[in-house]
Amino acid sequence: MSDNVVAIDGPAASGKSTIANLVAKKLCIPYINTGNMYRAVTLCFLDNKIDITNFSDAESTLFLKSVVLNYVENNDDEYEIELNGKLVGDSIRTPRVAAEVSSVAALPSVREFLTTKQREFAQLGLIVMEGRDIGTVVFPKATHKFFLTASPLVRAQRRLGQEGETVDGATIESVAREIEDRDYQDMNRAVAPLKQAQDAVLVDTSNMNIDQVLETICSNII
Ligand code: CDP
Repeated sequence: MSDNVVAIDGPAASGKSTIANLVAKKLCIPYINTGNMYRAVTLCFLDNKIDITNFSDAESTLFLKSVVLNYVENNDDEYEIELNGKLVGDSIRTPRVAAEVSSVAALPSVREFLTTKQREFAQLGLIVMEGRDIGTVVFPKATHKFFLTASPLVRAQRRLGQEGETVDGATIESVAREIEDRDYQDMNRAVAPLKQAQDAVLVDTSNMNIDQVLETICSNII
């Protein structure tokens, strides 16, 4: 039996969130951004002054027992992350969190913690889920799988245009380097690395506008 999931994976700043959100709205189904879950756990580590480079997976397992991560539905029918009883909002989309998130996401305990939560969502009916390992590991039997990518330059330009996500004085070169480092870490970790599922449709969005990407994805679903 296949899983009730439209899986959209891809590297940093490839446009996954924008597209996943629009696909979900068009199909009138929920949308889950799993990157935000990894970012929320990272924020929690940082707020607790955890030195991620010296934190073992066993320590992380213990720490995660005190972390309560939930999704709450807002008035726009969107799901927002609540961490230990508080909505995280934009506090997870900062350069500080972005700098540490790939190290946190490489911890097997963190992946297990979040993968379990992600699988619970599939029981709600068809959903759009976006991330790095949705079509490969979380839902290998997803009904529809897409892998979104774009050239490093286009991705850096897109990230630079997102307010609050880059440090003051950031340049195309510095943003491209940050994205490249994160992709390298995500592609080379031992557990659930970023890669295209064999049966995923590859969409290179470098020279496509949002409507064209949306059309490409929806025409493969409907
Ligand atoms: O939005 P952006 O492209 O910057 O990345 P994101 O989707 O917010 O994901 C942030 C980070 O979370 C990634 O760089 C990965 O390290 C991690 N992640 C992951 O490991 N697995 C997922 N399913 C989603 C995100």
